[in-house]
Amino acid sequence: MHCLHCYRYDVTAWTEERPIPRDVLLRQIKGKNALFCMLTDKIDKEVLDTAGKDLRVIATMSVGYDHIDVKETKSRGIRIGFTPEVLTDAVAELTIGLILATARRMFEAHDQIVEGKWSAWAPTWMCGVELKRSTVGIVGFGRIGQAVAQRLQGFGVERILYTSRSEKREAKGLGATLSSLENLVEVSDFIIVTCALMPETTGLFSDALFDKMKPTAIFINTSRGAVVDQLALQRALEKGKILAAGIDVMTPEPIPPTHPLLKLKNCGKYILLYIYIYILYTHHGHITCIGSLDISGLTRLSLFVAVSLPHIGSATTWARSQMSVMTARNIIAALDSQVMPAEVM
Ligand code: GLV
Ligand code: GLV
Repeated sequence: MHCLHCYRYDVTAWTEERPIPRDVLLRQIKGKNALFCMLTDKIDKEVLDTAGKDLRVIATMSVGYDHIDVKETKSRGIRIGFTPEVLTDAVAELTIGLILATARRMFEAHDQIVEGKWSAWAPTWMCGVELKRSTVGIVGFGRIGQAVAQRLQGFGVERILYTSRSEKREAKGLGATLSSLENLVEVSDFIIVTCALMPETTGLFSDALFDKMKPTAIFINTSRGAVVDQLALQRALEKGKILAAGIDVMTPEPIPPTHPLLKLKNCGKYILLYIYIYILYTHHGHITCIGSLDISGLTRLSLFVAVSLPHIGSATTWARSQMSVMTARNIIAALDSQVMPAEVM
């Protein structure tokens, strides 16, 4: 731990890149007035009890605050700060990137080069799907969901659906239509999860929901892993109930490199695409196929995998520096009994 005196505050700081070990947090929080924490720090009754009654504010450097026992914290009169808005663009950009990387099989294609499997340009090789003409369903139409919808405008998607407790004012301008979750998962080509993790959304994506999806659906999650029953997702991919998944969040984090979700290669289902066939009329009037109707080539189109990223949605230097400043400002405001830049209400 580093201790420093700056301006009006005595600060004890964990300065390593890895999360503060639980025992160090518990040792150091005793008697403190404020806690600057990350989404990797579980803030529960034990932490609050250990901190004691001088603790006045907990500010997390994240937009999600599912790691904080909000009810317990607030019942003790402790204020909670978080960092909305400053990371919206970063997460929305990453979400678009993940959609494209998954739909266009970018990581897999990269691996083909590295593994020496790129033998030539070929008509059916590494084919994926387009956003253009697709129906996109966004689950959770808050700041990030809307920022994704805004970015989708440029891709010529056919239709955007969203789920929300109530109709969103901003939806009309984004050409997005309110839908039930059931309808959304049934009709969407891309299902994008951007909702917050709450008791109501925990394990929301179950076998039952994956069963309703199109066999060609692509599932994207940049919110929290626990919104998904991960075994159900794995089963959906293994059984070819959906085409692919792109996830920036999972359970646990970090996920062990040996996890079956990361090994989902070559286990997708087969989609038959209608590919043109060269035909040749022989001088006898018979039709003979020549060229490249190669069934093994066609089935190779179905190499569908889970594309995984290590929770880097907000990982841009701009967003992270804004988030850290906002977290500090949340603390300063709370200690001064002022309005906080972003307080969990
Ligand atoms: C990132 O996941 C955040 O909640 O800020
Ligand atoms: C692809 O590179 C093309 O020229 O069609």
